[in-house]
Amino acid sequence: MNQPLSNDQSRRDFIAGFGALAGFSLLTLAGCSRSDKVRVGFMLPYTGTYAQLGVAIENGFRLALDQQGGTLGGRDVEYFRVDDESNPAKATDNANKIITRDKVDVVVGTVHSGVAMGMIKVARETDTLLIIPNAGADAATGELCAPNVFRTSFSNWQPTHPLGKVMVENGHRKAVFITWKYAAGEQAVKSFAEGYTAAGGTVVKELFVPFPNVEFQALLTEIAALRPDAVACFFAGGGAVKFVKDYAAAGLKGKIPLYGSGFLTEGVLDAQGDAAEGIITTLHYAESLDNPRNKAFRAAYLAAYDSQADVYAVQGYDTGLLLIQALEKVGGDFTNRNAVIAAMEGAVIDSPRGRWTMSKAHNPIQDFYARRVENGHNKVIGVAWKALEDPALGCKM
Ligand code: PHB
Repeated sequence: MNQPLSNDQSRRDFIAGFGALAGFSLLTLAGCSRSDKVRVGFMLPYTGTYAQLGVAIENGFRLALDQQGGTLGGRDVEYFRVDDESNPAKATDNANKIITRDKVDVVVGTVHSGVAMGMIKVARETDTLLIIPNAGADAATGELCAPNVFRTSFSNWQPTHPLGKVMVENGHRKAVFITWKYAAGEQAVKSFAEGYTAAGGTVVKELFVPFPNVEFQALLTEIAALRPDAVACFFAGGGAVKFVKDYAAAGLKGKIPLYGSGFLTEGVLDAQGDAAEGIITTLHYAESLDNPRNKAFRAAYLAAYDSQADVYAVQGYDTGLLLIQALEKVGGDFTNRNAVIAAMEGAVIDSPRGRWTMSKAHNPIQDFYARRVENGHNKVIGVAWKALEDPALGCKM
């Protein structure tokens, strides 16, 4: 039960309360206190077919900060999280939750292109800083590009653009492309077709399964009947495991070579086992990249999380590196928005994937590697495209 306060006690509380109020007003007038924590919001999938990808991104981000004492521009960091379930229907609500309820300074998210589209809308409306650590939605750094929207991963146009050239060089001129029917798959196949056709190949059929379904049997039977020179695809996470295993179980492995954007074999090789051997992919990372930065990163990630880093971990890590660089430049002052943005635009990221820079549209300009699965590892077999820059169609900034 509450006891009535003595006069003395009331006076002391009044003075303390007044002091706190005055302090608060000063902080409010100043815009923010340098002793406040930086509020970082992760909007990522923590359940569903992309759950493992979301976790790797968060792990990578935290590792980058932890390696620098856990701070950003000298300020402590407070983390907020929302599970977006890779569900576009909930994207706007979830983005509003983390921006309005948790009042974050920056949102880091997400994996799924459809969810990212909802996030971009909210970020533009609320002028919140958004860093996309995976989702490739072309529009994010194309027609919807904005000063407050950055990406540290790739556009969907990028990973499959060099793939066709690699396939034609290997003598495969007739290909089927199979993927999930949503933005990432549709944009991946569009870009693949452009690059493949330009290199002299023909896409004989495009096949789609609804996201996140993994019932591939009927389409694998169709592929067997079509007898293309090769199959190319976009799948990732849990769906990639199932597709690669089903491809082998259907008797297609060894008969019709399988290619893809490198997500097909990222973070899932143990689960895919022998079924993945020989698959050739193109991606902006490979665990076998022979540079000291990558080796140090992989060792630190393994020590911190007892699991092997993959491209998603690298993208999360680079998101951390980007913010570290930018906030160091502005002395931790997030309210100095134009300077934060300018610092991010001019950032050079010394990444485990190799050094990359930010395009005018805020998307990485980076090398793409050709990789082949050998003994359970993505072995680099060449550079498929140097310094590949997304065309950023429709971006006016
Ligand atoms: C996407 O939806 O943009 C997406 C998801 C998973 C990936 C790559 C792209 O591995």
